Order: sequence, then structure tokens, then C-alpha cells
Amino acid sequence: MKTLITAAELTAAIDEERDLPGCAGLKVAFVPTMGALHAGHLSLVEKAREYADLVVVSIFVNPLQFGAGEDFDKYPRILEADAKVLEAAGADILFAPTVEVVYPEAAELGVAAGIDAARAKAKLNPALQSGEVGTAFEGAARPGHFDGMLAVVARLFELVKPDFAVFGAKDAQQLFLIRRMAATLFPDLHIIQAPIIREASGLAMSSRNRYLDAAALKVAEQLSKALNVGKAAAETLGAKPSMAINAARARLDGVPEAKLDYLALVDPNSFEKIDDSFTGRALMLIAAVVGTTRLIDNLTIDFQEPFA
Ligand code: PAJ
Repeated sequence: MKTLITAAELTAAIDEERDLPGCAGLKVAFVPTMGALHAGHLSLVEKAREYADLVVVSIFVNPLQFGAGEDFDKYPRILEADAKVLEAAGADILFAPTVEVVYPEAAELGVAAGIDAARAKAKLNPALQSGEVGTAFEGAARPGHFDGMLAVVARLFELVKPDFAVFGAKDAQQLFLIRRMAATLFPDLHIIQAPIIREASGLAMSSRNRYLDAAALKVAEQLSKALNVGKAAAETLGAKPSMAINAARARLDGVPEAKLDYLALVDPNSFEKIDDSFTGRALMLIAAVVGTTRLIDNLTIDFQEPFA
């Protein structure tokens, strides 16, 4: 595995692979991450391998998607350890750019002013606006987060020029917005969704789980348990959406240490909330703060037509 920092190195390495004899139609799959890798990230690398000859993984903690007072400074940065697990997982290229590589404005103006300039530039592109969906749920709690996320993902797509890009279902709202952006700006790129990888307890794996001590982990586990209670209510007891939400919420009533931000059911095709007339596949979303750590999870739930 090669670890590359600059855009020129990256382009040269990918072109070199394409130019090898017999590699004219070489397919590139890309897995963007912020590092602090866990088995969830590695499952994306495995998935990428199913689609492509060359698997590129990026590690970049994107300042544009963190708000004031969020964990940008303390976000775990463990590049050497990440490189080892990526190599073992069979990634071909680790792209670990600096902020100046991702946002050339930062090279010109310095990091702080460069970040502001990059944000302002992204605002000019309508396809990079997360819009109404971007201000709901995670976006309501983290203003500007999804616009910053779209800016970096589009920039990374420009640099890597992949044929496939793989994202986890864990960040369902992010994935919805990336699909919409890519449909406009990168119509030939295939966006692949990979399932959520969980601990044995059901807790969705997350780089932020590192912030949790044993007691907090026990609390965090209740999020996925609540989602499963909602799913069981709908799929085994025939509960309607509002009843499924109530069942899931009741599960969390006994867990005051988990500060619930939202628990909602959305149509995965629009990311709009569903009402009780909805049938078909919905997505139950949850976000809660445990201690100072914000955690999210989701689960698909099938709502059936009531029996006549
Ligand atoms: P990060 O949180 O590092 O996640 C990188 C990718 O891993 C995302 O596609 C995310 O959905 C996926 N992922 C995280 N936990 C997972 C799990 N338990 N199971 C399956 N997939 C999981 O998401 C980001 O970084 C950033 O916003 C990024 C897209 C890289 C842009 O900066």
C-alpha cells in the first residue's frame, strides 16, 4: 500500500496503475474516511474491493464539517495505526492529504482564512448545498455540517476520480445528500451503500466510541436496543409509525443518561418524516448525547398494509 499526501502523487499513482499492460479499463473504488478506523470502515474497504481493481482510502479530518465547540481538535488522529490496518485490509492507496492539498485556498491564505474562503467558494455551487434536508436531524444539531461534508466529498471525488465510492449506512443522512450531490456533479460515479457494522452489543461502531468509558458504553448500547424495539413493534406487532416511535422512546425513558436529540421515522427516498399512512420501508433515526459524545444510529423498518 502506498501512502500519498499530495494531489500530484495521487494522480501519478493512479495513472501508473491504469497504464500497466492490460489495465486500460482499470476501475477505481474510493472510501473516504476521517480515520480512527474500526471494523465498520474496514468493511467499506472490503466492499470497495468487490467493485474495483484499485482501492483508494482517504483519511482527512475535514475542518469544514465541524462547528465551533465540536470535537475537531480532539478528533482521534492515529495515522500510523490506521495505515497498518488498511494495509492488512488490502487497500492499495492511502490518501492522507493536508488541509492545503484539499483546500488550495489554505496554501495561499493560511489555514484559518483558507478554510473560510473554501466555505465561501462551496456556497456558490448550488449542487453543494445540503438545503432543507441538510438542516434537519443531524443538520439541525450541527449547523453547516452537511455543507462542509459535501464540499470535502466533492473535492475528494475531483482528486481521486473514482468509478465507485463506498459509504456506510450508519450515516444515512450523509449518504442521502452525497447521492443527490453526485447525481448532479458526478453522474458517472456509482455510489455504493454498505451495511452498518455493530459491536456484539448492537452498538454501531463509530470512531467516537473511543470517547466512551465502560459505563457510557452501556448507556450507548441502549440506542440500538431502542431501534430494535421500534422495529419489533412494527414488524411483529403491526404497529403504525407513531406507535413504533413511542415503543422505541419508551425503551429510552429508563435511560436518562442518554440525552435523546431526535428519534424519527423518515422515508429513505426523501428523508422526510413519514406519517401513520405510510407503508413500505422506512428508516428509524436516532441521535443522543452520552456524556459529551454525540452518537447516531438508524435501522430500516418495514411497515405493512394493515390486514383487511
Ligand atoms: P467517518 O465518520 O470516518 O466515516 C467514514 C465512512 O465510514 C462513512 O461512509 C461512514 O458511514 C462509514 N462508517 C462509519 N461507521 C460505520 C459502521 N459502524 N458501519 C459501516 N460504515 C460505517 O463520514 C465521514 O467520516 C466523513 O463525513 C466523510 C464522508 C469522510 C467526509 O469527511
